[in-house]
Amino acid sequence: MAPSEWRTGNTASIQETAQQLGVELKFSDGQQKQENQIKAIRQFIAMKVDVIGISPVVETGWDEVFQEVKDAGIPLILVDRRAAVPENLYVSYLGSDFIEEGRNAARALAQVTDGKARIVELVGTVDSAPANDRYKGFREILTKYPDMQIIGSRSGDFTRAKGKEVMQEFLNKYGNEITAVFAHNDDMAMGAISAIEAYGLRPGVDIKIVSIDGIRDAFKAMIDGKLNATIECHPLLGPQFYELALQVVNGESVPKRVPSKEGVFFPDNAAELLPTRKY
Ligand code: AHR
Repeated sequence: MAPSEWRTGNTASIQETAQQLGVELKFSDGQQKQENQIKAIRQFIAMKVDVIGISPVVETGWDEVFQEVKDAGIPLILVDRRAAVPENLYVSYLGSDFIEEGRNAARALAQVTDGKARIVELVGTVDSAPANDRYKGFREILTKYPDMQIIGSRSGDFTRAKGKEVMQEFLNKYGNEITAVFAHNDDMAMGAISAIEAYGLRPGVDIKIVSIDGIRDAFKAMIDGKLNATIECHPLLGPQFYELALQVVNGESVPKRVPSKEGVFFPDNAAELLPTRKY
Protein backbone atom coordinates (compact mmCIF):
# COMPACT_ATOMS: atom_id res chain seq x y z
CA MET A 1 0.00 0.00 0.00
CA ALA A 2 1.33 3.48 -0.89
CA PRO A 3 2.76 5.47 2.03
CA SER A 4 1.00 8.68 3.06
CA GLU A 5 2.17 11.92 1.43
CA TRP A 6 3.36 12.88 4.89
CA ARG A 7 5.65 9.85 5.11
CA THR A 8 6.97 10.47 1.59
CA GLY A 9 7.86 14.05 2.61
CA ASN A 10 9.41 12.86 5.87
CA THR A 11 11.58 10.24 4.13
CA ALA A 12 12.74 12.76 1.51
CA SER A 13 13.68 15.22 4.25
CA ILE A 14 15.78 12.60 6.09
CA GLN A 15 17.52 11.44 2.88
CA GLU A 16 18.10 14.86 1.30
CA THR A 17 19.45 16.42 4.50
CA ALA A 18 21.96 13.53 4.86
CA GLN A 19 23.22 14.26 1.33
CA GLN A 20 23.46 18.00 1.98
CA LEU A 21 25.43 17.41 5.18
CA GLY A 22 27.62 14.65 3.76
CA VAL A 23 26.36 12.21 6.39
CA GLU A 24 26.42 8.50 5.43
CA LEU A 25 22.83 7.27 5.84
CA LYS A 26 21.86 3.58 5.87
CA PHE A 27 18.13 3.70 5.20
CA SER A 28 15.54 0.96 5.60
CA ASP A 29 11.83 1.30 4.80
CA GLY A 30 9.81 -0.68 7.37
CA GLN A 31 6.75 -0.83 5.04
CA GLN A 32 4.41 -0.20 8.01
CA LYS A 33 5.57 -3.44 9.70
CA GLN A 34 7.20 -3.62 13.14
CA GLU A 35 8.97 -6.89 12.30
CA ASN A 36 10.77 -5.18 9.38
CA GLN A 37 11.83 -2.33 11.65
CA ILE A 38 13.19 -4.74 14.28
CA LYS A 39 15.12 -6.65 11.62
CA ALA A 40 16.62 -3.39 10.27
CA ILE A 41 17.68 -2.28 13.77
CA ARG A 42 19.53 -5.57 14.27
CA GLN A 43 21.29 -5.08 10.93
CA PHE A 44 22.31 -1.55 11.95
CA ILE A 45 23.69 -2.91 15.23
CA ALA A 46 25.74 -5.48 13.27
CA MET A 47 27.07 -2.65 11.06
CA LYS A 48 28.15 -0.76 14.20
CA VAL A 49 26.54 2.52 13.08
CA ASP A 50 27.11 5.69 15.17
CA VAL A 51 23.43 6.59 15.79
CA ILE A 52 20.09 4.91 15.07
CA GLY A 53 16.98 6.98 14.31
CA ILE A 54 13.58 5.29 14.12
CA SER A 55 9.90 6.24 13.65
CA PRO A 56 8.30 3.30 15.49
CA VAL A 57 5.27 2.18 13.49
CA VAL A 58 3.48 1.15 16.71
CA GLU A 59 4.04 2.19 20.32
CA THR A 60 4.54 -1.17 22.04
CA GLY A 61 6.88 -4.15 21.68
CA TRP A 62 10.24 -2.33 21.52
CA ASP A 63 11.87 -3.02 24.89
CA GLU A 64 13.95 -6.02 23.84
CA VAL A 65 15.43 -4.62 20.62
CA PHE A 66 15.99 -1.14 22.10
CA GLN A 67 17.86 -2.81 24.99
CA GLU A 68 20.05 -4.56 22.37
CA VAL A 69 20.81 -1.13 20.84
CA LYS A 70 21.73 0.23 24.27
CA ASP A 71 23.90 -2.81 25.07
CA ALA A 72 25.75 -2.22 21.78
CA GLY A 73 26.51 1.35 22.97
CA ILE A 74 24.60 2.96 20.08
CA PRO A 75 22.51 6.08 20.86
CA LEU A 76 18.88 5.81 19.71
CA ILE A 77 16.75 8.78 18.65
CA LEU A 78 12.97 8.45 18.20
CA VAL A 79 11.93 10.52 15.18
CA ASP A 80 8.29 11.52 14.64
CA ARG A 81 6.73 8.66 16.64
CA ARG A 82 7.08 7.80 20.30
CA ALA A 83 7.54 4.28 21.70
CA ALA A 84 6.19 3.10 25.06
CA VAL A 85 9.59 2.22 26.59
CA PRO A 86 11.56 3.40 29.64
CA GLU A 87 13.28 6.73 28.99
CA ASN A 88 16.75 5.25 29.51
CA LEU A 89 16.40 3.26 26.27
CA TYR A 90 16.59 6.34 24.00
CA VAL A 91 18.46 9.64 24.06
CA SER A 92 15.82 11.94 22.60
CA TYR A 93 12.38 12.02 21.02
CA LEU A 94 11.93 14.52 18.19
CA GLY A 95 8.40 15.01 16.89
CA SER A 96 4.94 16.52 17.09
CA ASP A 97 2.61 16.91 20.02
CA PHE A 98 -0.02 14.49 18.73
CA ILE A 99 -2.39 15.07 21.66
CA GLU A 100 -2.46 18.79 20.89
CA GLU A 101 -3.13 17.98 17.23
CA GLY A 102 -6.18 15.94 18.30
CA ARG A 103 -7.34 18.84 20.49
CA ASN A 104 -6.86 21.31 17.64
CA ALA A 105 -8.82 19.06 15.29
CA ALA A 106 -11.75 19.04 17.75
CA ARG A 107 -11.57 22.83 18.17
CA ALA A 108 -11.55 23.31 14.38
CA LEU A 109 -14.44 20.88 13.89
CA ALA A 110 -16.45 22.67 16.61
CA GLN A 111 -15.76 25.95 14.81
CA VAL A 112 -16.92 24.74 11.37
CA THR A 113 -20.00 22.88 12.70
CA ASP A 114 -21.08 25.50 15.28
CA GLY A 115 -20.64 22.84 17.93
CA LYS A 116 -23.27 20.46 16.52
CA ALA A 117 -22.12 17.32 14.73
CA ARG A 118 -22.59 13.59 14.29
CA ILE A 119 -19.04 12.53 13.65
CA VAL A 120 -17.33 9.51 12.14
CA GLU A 121 -13.67 9.15 12.95
CA LEU A 122 -11.02 7.63 10.68
CA VAL A 123 -8.37 6.50 13.13
CA GLY A 124 -4.69 6.03 12.16
CA THR A 125 -2.66 2.82 12.44
CA VAL A 126 -3.77 0.81 15.48
CA ASP A 127 -1.35 1.13 18.44
CA SER A 128 0.62 3.95 16.78
CA ALA A 129 1.49 6.99 18.89
CA PRO A 130 -0.26 9.52 16.58
CA ALA A 131 -3.46 7.45 16.47
CA ASN A 132 -3.53 6.90 20.24
CA ASP A 133 -2.82 10.55 21.06
CA ARG A 134 -5.08 12.15 18.44
CA TYR A 135 -7.93 9.88 19.59
CA LYS A 136 -7.37 11.05 23.16
CA GLY A 137 -6.86 14.79 22.47
CA PHE A 138 -9.95 14.94 20.23
CA ARG A 139 -12.19 13.44 22.91
CA GLU A 140 -10.75 15.68 25.59
CA ILE A 141 -12.07 18.80 23.81
CA LEU A 142 -15.32 17.13 22.73
CA THR A 143 -16.40 16.86 26.39
CA LYS A 144 -17.04 20.63 26.19
CA TYR A 145 -19.47 20.19 23.27
CA PRO A 146 -22.49 18.07 24.29
CA ASP A 147 -24.01 18.37 20.78
CA MET A 148 -20.99 16.83 19.09
CA GLN A 149 -21.15 13.04 19.14
CA ILE A 150 -18.89 10.38 17.65
CA ILE A 151 -21.18 7.81 16.03
CA GLY A 152 -18.47 5.65 14.44
CA SER A 153 -14.72 5.21 14.90
CA ARG A 154 -12.49 2.81 12.93
CA SER A 155 -8.93 2.53 11.71
CA GLY A 156 -8.12 3.52 8.13
CA ASP A 157 -4.41 2.76 8.74
CA PHE A 158 -3.33 6.28 7.66
CA THR A 159 -3.80 5.39 3.94
CA ARG A 160 -6.06 6.85 1.24
CA ALA A 161 -7.29 3.45 0.07
CA LYS A 162 -8.27 2.30 3.57
CA GLY A 163 -9.71 5.73 4.44
CA LYS A 164 -11.97 5.47 1.40
CA GLU A 165 -13.00 1.91 2.19
CA VAL A 166 -13.86 2.68 5.84
CA MET A 167 -15.76 5.85 4.86
CA GLN A 168 -17.80 3.82 2.35
CA GLU A 169 -18.71 1.45 5.17
CA PHE A 170 -19.69 4.33 7.45
CA LEU A 171 -21.87 5.83 4.70
CA ASN A 172 -23.56 2.49 4.03
CA LYS A 173 -24.29 2.14 7.75
CA TYR A 174 -25.18 5.72 8.80
CA GLY A 175 -25.92 7.53 5.47
CA ASN A 176 -27.21 11.10 5.92
CA GLU A 177 -26.89 10.85 9.69
CA ILE A 178 -23.19 11.69 9.30
CA THR A 179 -22.52 15.44 9.39
CA ALA A 180 -18.78 15.47 10.10
CA VAL A 181 -15.56 13.49 9.66
CA PHE A 182 -12.44 13.62 11.77
CA ALA A 183 -9.62 11.90 9.86
CA HIS A 184 -6.37 11.32 11.76
CA ASN A 185 -4.46 12.29 8.61
CA ASP A 186 -5.07 14.13 5.33
CA ASP A 187 -4.54 11.02 3.20
CA MET A 188 -7.50 9.27 4.85
CA ALA A 189 -9.51 12.50 4.43
CA MET A 190 -8.72 12.41 0.68
CA GLY A 191 -10.03 8.83 0.59
CA ALA A 192 -13.14 9.91 2.54
CA ILE A 193 -13.77 12.77 0.08
CA SER A 194 -13.86 10.26 -2.83
CA ALA A 195 -16.23 7.99 -0.91
CA ILE A 196 -18.57 10.87 0.00
CA GLU A 197 -18.69 12.09 -3.61
CA ALA A 198 -19.37 8.57 -4.89
CA TYR A 199 -22.22 8.34 -2.38
CA GLY A 200 -23.78 11.52 -3.84
CA LEU A 201 -23.06 13.96 -0.99
CA ARG A 202 -20.86 17.07 -1.00
CA PRO A 203 -17.67 16.77 1.10
CA GLY A 204 -16.97 20.00 2.99
CA VAL A 205 -20.63 21.08 2.64
CA ASP A 206 -23.03 18.23 3.53
CA ILE A 207 -20.30 16.58 5.58
CA LYS A 208 -17.69 18.83 7.21
CA ILE A 209 -14.18 17.37 7.29
CA VAL A 210 -11.18 18.13 9.47
CA SER A 211 -7.90 16.22 9.23
CA ILE A 212 -4.25 16.37 10.21
CA ASP A 213 -0.90 16.89 8.40
CA GLY A 214 -1.21 19.91 6.09
CA ILE A 215 -0.14 18.17 2.85
CA ARG A 216 -0.48 20.01 -0.49
CA ASP A 217 -3.53 17.92 -1.49
CA ALA A 218 -5.28 19.11 1.69
CA PHE A 219 -4.71 22.74 0.65
CA LYS A 220 -6.05 21.93 -2.84
CA ALA A 221 -9.13 20.27 -1.27
CA MET A 222 -9.70 23.35 0.91
CA ILE A 223 -9.47 25.59 -2.18
CA ASP A 224 -12.09 23.32 -3.84
CA GLY A 225 -14.33 23.62 -0.75
CA LYS A 226 -14.08 19.88 0.06
CA LEU A 227 -12.06 20.06 3.28
CA ASN A 228 -12.82 22.44 6.16
CA ALA A 229 -9.51 22.51 8.05
CA THR A 230 -6.15 20.78 8.31
CA ILE A 231 -4.02 20.71 11.42
CA GLU A 232 -0.31 20.83 10.64
CA CYS A 233 1.93 17.89 11.53
CA HIS A 234 5.40 18.77 10.35
CA PRO A 235 7.27 15.96 8.48
CA LEU A 236 10.42 17.85 7.42
CA LEU A 237 12.39 16.61 10.39
CA GLY A 238 15.71 15.94 8.60
CA PRO A 239 17.56 19.11 9.70
CA GLN A 240 16.49 18.77 13.36
CA PHE A 241 17.28 15.05 13.35
CA TYR A 242 20.88 15.44 12.15
CA GLU A 243 21.45 18.38 14.45
CA LEU A 244 20.48 16.13 17.36
CA ALA A 245 22.41 13.12 16.00
CA LEU A 246 25.61 15.13 15.54
CA GLN A 247 25.31 16.59 19.04
CA VAL A 248 24.92 13.06 20.43
CA VAL A 249 27.91 11.73 18.46
CA ASN A 250 29.98 14.67 19.73
CA GLY A 251 29.11 13.76 23.29
CA GLU A 252 26.93 16.85 23.90
CA SER A 253 23.83 16.57 26.06
CA VAL A 254 20.49 16.86 24.22
CA PRO A 255 16.91 17.46 25.44
CA LYS A 256 14.84 14.32 26.02
CA ARG A 257 11.98 15.88 24.09
CA VAL A 258 12.26 18.13 21.02
CA PRO A 259 8.86 19.34 19.72
CA SER A 260 8.24 20.48 16.13
CA LYS A 261 6.34 23.76 15.47
CA GLU A 262 2.89 23.47 13.91
CA GLY A 263 -0.15 25.52 12.79
CA VAL A 264 -3.87 25.16 11.98
CA PHE A 265 -5.18 26.08 8.50
CA PHE A 266 -8.65 26.89 7.16
CA PRO A 267 -9.87 27.40 3.54
CA ASP A 268 -9.84 31.23 3.68
CA ASN A 269 -6.10 31.57 2.99
CA ALA A 270 -5.45 28.11 1.44
CA ALA A 271 -4.84 29.50 -2.09
CA GLU A 272 -2.32 32.01 -0.80
CA LEU A 273 -0.47 29.36 1.25
CA LEU A 274 -0.47 26.46 -1.26
CA PRO A 275 2.64 27.68 -3.16
CA THR A 276 4.58 27.81 0.13
CA ARG A 277 3.77 24.22 1.14
CA LYS A 278 6.77 21.91 0.76
CA TYR A 279 5.00 18.56 1.29
O1 AHR B 1 3.50 9.82 12.47
C1 AHR B 1 3.01 10.83 11.64
C2 AHR B 1 1.68 10.45 11.09
O2 AHR B 1 1.81 9.20 10.45
C3 AHR B 1 1.13 11.38 10.03
O3 AHR B 1 0.04 12.12 10.45
C4 AHR B 1 0.62 10.40 9.02
O4 AHR B 1 0.28 10.97 7.80
C5 AHR B 1 1.65 9.35 9.06
O5 AHR B 1 1.36 8.21 8.37
